[in-house]
Amino acid sequence: MHRIFEINKIPDERGNLSVLQNNKEIPFEIKRVYWIYDVPGGEMRGGHAYKNLSEVIIALSGSYDVVLHDGEKEYRYHLNRSYYGLYVPKMMWRYIENFSTNSLALIVADDFYKPEEYIRDFDAFKEMQKKK
Ligand code: TYD
Repeated sequence: MHRIFEINKIPDERGNLSVLQNNKEIPFEIKRVYWIYDVPGGEMRGGHAYKNLSEVIIALSGSYDVVLHDGEKEYRYHLNRSYYGLYVPKMMWRYIENFSTNSLALIVADDFYKPEEYIRDFDAFKEMQKKK
């Protein structure tokens, strides 16, 4: 199930530190990390689902909303702390919007980039969810 979880924060007067490890803070084996940055005001990213891929999304800087849809219901998560992760399982429609200036979205995924993993049509996604 999709959920926000807290990542351990090691506080320090010199600056805080947080860490992500395979199968520990991240609930899977990390195969890929990418980040979204320099997003112009008003833009959105995503707008697709993955057939088999799970991911964790972290707002390393700034804030934005991650909107998830399971085919029936929509869920909106506001990410604005670098020590919160949002776990997104496979087969969730998702897009990211309301990026603040200079925000930095880190995405940690359990598989390599595979174009065939994407479902880019929302109606097709809903049909696939119905047949499950
Ligand atoms: P896409 O996943 O469609 O971005 P978003 O979901 O934010 O709209 O990817 C945008 C482009 O970047 C697309 O041409 C594929 C490419 N890309 C890679 O080559 N490797 C990757 O790991 C990702 C995530 C995207």
